[in-house]
Amino acid sequence: MKRQIAIVGKNGRLGAALCQALAEENQVLPFGREELDLREPVWEQLKGVQFDLLINAAAATNVDWCESHEIEALRINGYAVAELGALCAERDARCLHVSTDYVFDGLSSRPYLEEDPALPISVYGKSKRLGEELLLDAHPDHLVIRVSWVFGPDKPGFIDWALDQALNHDNLSAIDDKTSSPTYTLDFVRWIRPFLFELPIGGIVHLCNPGGCTWREYAQWAIDAACLEGVPLKAREVQPITLNSMSSFLARRPPYTVLEIGKFLNLTGLRARPWRDAVQHFVRGKFLGTQ
Ligand SMILES: NC(=O)c1ccc[n+]([C@@H]2O[C@H](COP(=O)([O-])OP(=O)(O)OC[C@H]3O[C@@H](n4cnc5c(N)ncnc54)[C@H](OP(=O)(O)O)[C@@H]3O)[C@@H](O)[C@H]2O)c1
Repeated sequence: MKRQIAIVGKNGRLGAALCQALAEENQVLPFGREELDLREPVWEQLKGVQFDLLINAAAATNVDWCESHEIEALRINGYAVAELGALCAERDARCLHVSTDYVFDGLSSRPYLEEDPALPISVYGKSKRLGEELLLDAHPDHLVIRVSWVFGPDKPGFIDWALDQALNHDNLSAIDDKTSSPTYTLDFVRWIRPFLFELPIGGIVHLCNPGGCTWREYAQWAIDAACLEGVPLKAREVQPITLNSMSSFLARRPPYTVLEIGKFLNLTGLRARPWRDAVQHFVRGKFLGTQ
């Protein structure tokens, strides 16, 4: 019999990919904001819904919106996660919750380990850290999965923006003093599989494509990959700019948040392709229409 997996955040970049990928082997119960609004108490909204496992990929993800909406951000990314964790614990179901590299202050000079101190520097980071802590307080078998720079075919993101700029404008620029690790949704949905039922561990695990890059390097590689596919771009060089020059940013961003994924590799025996291979796969699919 198929297991029932509730997925919260069905319209998000990661949530949509999860709903699609896990539906073959499991019975997926997808929840969007219209079925489950995390601003409201979750108990009533999930009354009568049966599931073996719940994955929460929903969040208030706009970092600058969170900075000016602290109460709502703490509710959606923090206290609502606690409620999901408690509800799952009561039903003997595990909760897998997606979190972020923004829980770190970004001052490290090496990739972050799961056990490194989380010292968020923005409301978004604080709200996501609160969610992590409250989820693990609710039950130690719940799992926090930290990702960074999520991209994939289900919802346009940074790469789509960079390629659109390069297609339609003579120049483009991207931040070159902020480094992180891209996470490809099509890889993520494979990596998460063992953690569903085979490896029911609790705690924190990092999942992303290995290797770090700046936003400029990330955009440049996407453009290089598009050029390799013969896409006629107007701009082919991404100019570097600094984080400090982004006057529109309300929230502080951590400058370096590459995630170390050794724990995931050791636990699962899986391999993770480097971020350049993942980005190239995505760009090829985008222009060949195979996504
Ligand atoms: N995107 C990144 O680069 C990145 C980096 C690090 C970590 N993460 C984490 O990865 C997870 C998934 O991110 P993503 O990129 O897939 O985000 P996303 O595309 O912004 O999707 C987030 C989803 O959450 C839903 N949501 C927001 N407020 C809600 C509420 N009050 N009630 C119910 N649902 C609500 C949104 O619903 P609507 O569609 O109705 O707005 C949206 O579908 C999040 O936990 C995020 O913190 C993302």
